[in-house]
Amino acid sequence: MSDDSEPWYRTAVFYEVAVHSYADSNGDGIGDLQGLTERLAYLEWLGITAIWILPIFPSPMRDGGYDVSDYLGIRPEFGDFDDFRTLIEQAHRRGIRVITDFIVNHTSNQHPWFQEARLPGSRKRDWYVWTDDPSTYSEARVIFVDTHTSNWAWDEVAGQYYWHRFFDHQPDLNYDNPAVRDAIADAMRFWLDMGLDGLRLDAVPYLFEREGTNCENLPETHAYLKEIRSMIDDEYPGVVLLAEANQRPEDLLAYFGDGDECHMAFNFPIMPLLFLAVASDDATVVAKELAATPDIPRGCQWSVFLRNHDELTLEMVTSTQRAALYDAYAPDPAMRKNVGIRRRLAPLLNGDRRKIELLHAVLLSLPGSPVMYYGDEIGMGDDIVLPDRDGVRTPMQWNPTPSAGWSDADPTHFYLPVVSDDAYGPNRVNVHDERADEHSLLSAVRNLIAMRPPAFGTAAFKVLNPGDPRVLAIARGEFTVAANFSSAPLTVRCGTDSYVAGNGTIKGNSVSLPPYGWLWMGPA
Ligand code: NOJ
Ligand code: CA
Repeated sequence: MSDDSEPWYRTAVFYEVAVHSYADSNGDGIGDLQGLTERLAYLEWLGITAIWILPIFPSPMRDGGYDVSDYLGIRPEFGDFDDFRTLIEQAHRRGIRVITDFIVNHTSNQHPWFQEARLPGSRKRDWYVWTDDPSTYSEARVIFVDTHTSNWAWDEVAGQYYWHRFFDHQPDLNYDNPAVRDAIADAMRFWLDMGLDGLRLDAVPYLFEREGTNCENLPETHAYLKEIRSMIDDEYPGVVLLAEANQRPEDLLAYFGDGDECHMAFNFPIMPLLFLAVASDDATVVAKELAATPDIPRGCQWSVFLRNHDELTLEMVTSTQRAALYDAYAPDPAMRKNVGIRRRLAPLLNGDRRKIELLHAVLLSLPGSPVMYYGDEIGMGDDIVLPDRDGVRTPMQWNPTPSAGWSDADPTHFYLPVVSDDAYGPNRVNVHDERADEHSLLSAVRNLIAMRPPAFGTAAFKVLNPGDPRVLAIARGEFTVAANFSSAPLTVRCGTDSYVAGNGTIKGNSVSLPPYGWLWMGPA
């Protein structure tokens, strides 16, 4: 399957996993690295070729580990460096690459750097961003609008305000300080030396601040990324840098630089439009967005996704689209978080298998490398009663027992409870039963991955006009994809050839698609 002329990440299928919720090997109620290693056989069977691991640094865990208190350690509950090296080795043995989150923008306020920086007269003061005047940088938006009204917080010990783009327990590092830039580059080296295949650069647009700007995507940030990239090219060839930049297309594109910044970037703009298209029986928004998606530099790649560990962000859509999406997918205010929707894929789509498969088929055929979110392959549910975004991070459901087979601990000691509702509890949704059932969602998703031509990762794309706004049709090199985003059976023309996969039928030049049906077609 691998194409040696292409970098590995251009033909990869990624799988995002939260270590603390995947598998608990020692029965303490917290998932761990060894647990994940023990599940690699499942991931290989599923057919994914790369895993992205959420942060594993020591952390007070007030932001899922994105609040780092030590860049050179592993959270003890997760295991140690030997466990981590073993995970990488075992994954590689199965042909699976491993990338991890790397939190560039901020630390926890518990990080020793910050603890030292707050002290009066500290030589570390300028490792963070401080002011006496909290009207500084007033053009920067607040991101966590549910919990914060300002990006400045007062520190009693320092007697100054410090800058934070996210939670106020997460002070932003000061990238104007060369010592910070070097310390972060060295921390990256520390992890890459263990054999990692890549880093997801968390919250990368916010590294620098400048008065009179929105403090996002600044030229200084891009200059730093070029430095990091040149370090990767010199010292770690083959390693991928993946930008997490929730930005409009033109700003997002800049993270590829001229092919000299990040190798990959999440395609945030397309994601909510896929959901909008399903909700409105109209694929036009997706077709338009794709048609406007610019070419990216050689060797670069989009990361496409449906859901992840965060809320389904609606920051980058128009206010009309946002209202329609809230209406369709978050009728209960408890389903909303910040500017987004904190629900998982299956419940968002009312558990409708046709829609879940349609979106998977589209995801796997969009330009880019798909990133699947753990549990979505079996149709896991969510728990909107849990705080923040924990409701979409519940334990993986491995078998039909009440504890879902993810941990032997007493359930009252589970780090997060297993989803227990009738529709999505482990008795209905679990790997064990779905593996044994060739008609299950899991089997369908696995087949999709197996059938996916590598050209979907690498070939040029072109939006076709199937003559019906309800159908998305795209050419991917020699392949054609047709997807019906509506509840009506439809017949359209879109220059087809031979059948590759899907539930539609081909007759000459026309394809018939059942409600929410789709087809992958190949060269004759
Ligand atoms: C982006 C991460 O995906 C999210 O989970 C986190 O809360 C923010 N960065 C802040 O670290
Ligand atoms: Ca454990």
